[in-house]
Amino acid sequence: MNGTFPKLEAVPFDATRLEAVEFFECGDDPWSLAAAQWISAPLEFNGALKSIRDHGTKVRLFYLGPMVVGFGTLGATTAPWPAPDDSHKEIIGYIPQFAVHSDMQGQPEGAGDDKFSRQILGHLLYAAKEASYRFVGLMVDEKNVKAIGFYQSAGFNPVAGTVTKYGRRLIRMLVAI
Ligand SMILES: CC(C)(COP(=O)(O)OP(=O)(O)OC[C@H]1O[C@@H](n2cnc3c(N)ncnc32)[C@H](O)[C@@H]1OP(=O)(O)O)[C@@H](O)C(=O)NCCC(=O)NCCS
Repeated sequence: MNGTFPKLEAVPFDATRLEAVEFFECGDDPWSLAAAQWISAPLEFNGALKSIRDHGTKVRLFYLGPMVVGFGTLGATTAPWPAPDDSHKEIIGYIPQFAVHSDMQGQPEGAGDDKFSRQILGHLLYAAKEASYRFVGLMVDEKNVKAIGFYQSAGFNPVAGTVTKYGRRLIRMLVAI
């Protein structure tokens, strides 16, 4: 499969690229609308730019030619998370938001590990490893079966317990890297 599918180009996101994500869309579900709002929010609202400024989150846009295919983000948890075997807690890499544009979801067909979704996630997991994190975690709406299936296919497992945020029930997922 190597080399036959287009490779996305990762570009650091900053205020100069707001225009590129102004109309970014990744679906009509609450979590999809939240992701699109997050990446396109001006600095004064809760979103990518604020997260970069306040928490040092790394946000990357992924381009195919001029098109923004998706975005991925990597930060760290603000408090220690339990390790998968529950033996201890530690600060881990954290993915606050992640999305693939509606037109590009499931693409390229038959690409396996080279699917755009996996290229973006692979980039984040590599960056987390480079930053010496041993685990990466995230929170996902318990109704977001597509994202849960996607993360599970990449080795993430649910951690016990749910978190309620903005009236939504979120499950925590974790992968050892
Ligand atoms: C979640 C998201 C990033 C996944 O990207 P995608 O391009 O739609 O995913 P893909 O179609 O490439 O699927 C990748 C893998 O996920 C799994 N998957 C996809 N759809 C699934 C579903 N409906 N149920 C279970 N697993 C599913 C499969 O393992 C699939 O791999 P395969 O096709 O090789 O079997 C994308 O749908 C998205 O941006 N959603 C809106 C925003 C969002 O929910 N972000 C996550 C917030 S935490």
